[in-house]
Amino acid sequence: MVRLTILGGGGFRVPLVYRALLDDHEEGRVTDVVLHDVDAARLDAIARVLAEQAAGVPDAPAVRVTTDLDEALRGTDFVFSAIRVGGLEGRAADERVALAEGVLGQETVGAGGIAYGLRTVPVAVDIARRVARLAPDAWVINFTNPAGLVTEAMSRHLGDRVIGICDSPVGLGRRVARLLGVDPARAWIDYVGLNHLGWLRSLRVDGRDELPRLLADRELLGSFEEGKLFGPDWLRSLGAVPNEYLHYYYFNREAVAAYQRAERTRGAFLRDQQAQFYDAVRDPGVPAFKAWDATRAEREATYMAASRAAAGAGERAPEDLESGGYEQVALALMRAISHDERSTLILNVRNRTTLAALDADAVVEVPCLVDSDGAHPVSVSPLTGHELGLVCAVKAVEREVLAAVEARSRAAAVRAFALHPLVDSVTVAHRLTTSYQEAHPTLAYLR
Ligand code: G6P
Ligand code: MN
Repeated sequence: MVRLTILGGGGFRVPLVYRALLDDHEEGRVTDVVLHDVDAARLDAIARVLAEQAAGVPDAPAVRVTTDLDEALRGTDFVFSAIRVGGLEGRAADERVALAEGVLGQETVGAGGIAYGLRTVPVAVDIARRVARLAPDAWVINFTNPAGLVTEAMSRHLGDRVIGICDSPVGLGRRVARLLGVDPARAWIDYVGLNHLGWLRSLRVDGRDELPRLLADRELLGSFEEGKLFGPDWLRSLGAVPNEYLHYYYFNREAVAAYQRAERTRGAFLRDQQAQFYDAVRDPGVPAFKAWDATRAEREATYMAASRAAAGAGERAPEDLESGGYEQVALALMRAISHDERSTLILNVRNRTTLAALDADAVVEVPCLVDSDGAHPVSVSPLTGHELGLVCAVKAVEREVLAAVEARSRAAAVRAFALHPLVDSVTVAHRLTTSYQEAHPTLAYLR
């Protein structure tokens, strides 16, 4: 028996994970799934979707739901932490407050990401402490955003037993490999940075770097998501392909303007969209999986719509809409650990000596070799120039967030906002802190 506990088990992406589990028939696969959530109605809705997915699959993992966190964790083998503290209403407030101050309002980047971190880290630390006590041998796979920061907070209690994941590096690697006509499974993807702040610097097949071939071809460069977002000339000028989240840095002014122009923020859109879904499936006559899948398709089609509008990038390419990022990384990671199947994945782990400019405990997003001992970062060529500068600046901000939580220090929170490269004034940082404390009563802990 292998048990997987999903925290945030009433969350919208759980059926993606369950789909991947249903496809796994190997020895040692997950046999029991425990869904935990603070919201029982959302748990019921998602459990209905999973039951429909499992229909007719003889070895489908058993599913149990609970709102008792300790019960969910006790003795489990794997924990997926995919919670959203404050819900989508909280995300919408994170975005709105920043945009009202004229700075980027986004889930994980800039002021919005700092506010989200200040709300989430205390909860993540509590979870980490409970795991250490109730399931000391469990592996924790953290999806909870801001994923790098949250993983680092949890690693202070769980060491290397917590591993953070994100689907964006894998998606980027796949897109670039596809353009080059290369099998992604055979390519070495040299991607390095922090979560949502990394660069693909080379893509090697049989030791040969294929990326220069893409950078030399203007037309090919303009034909994929990152090429459209950043423009072929900027990619050639950088000599690397940045994570799509770098659009908020390289085109900050345009992104802020586009997000301010939008009728609703992304969080507000999703809040309304998902409320409709959870409401609809309360009616037992409504086919739950169908309702979920239609909502998922709309969500994916509108991903980063405001950024794409700002860049004139148009619709998302059909091949980007098929999922397979998020849940595949998680499953591949679990399998590598439990079957000792060596594989290479881009993960959020403690730095050790990978990036010389950062200390050993700083969580970074880098290629890792995974086996039954966990995830081991592979040595990579160093970050240089402005990439190194940005990574160090943002890591310093993350450290201020962790210090703010640990010391309940408002001054540290102000420093986090003020020192972020996308917040342009200390005055604004003070006002952001005040407005976020007004918007989120849970931030009253900052004194
Ligand atoms: C990607 C990122 C996640 C992020 C999500 C936001 O998958 O890797 O970290 O949460 O996009 O998408 P959404 O549909 O919620 O705007
Ligand atoms: Mn992510």
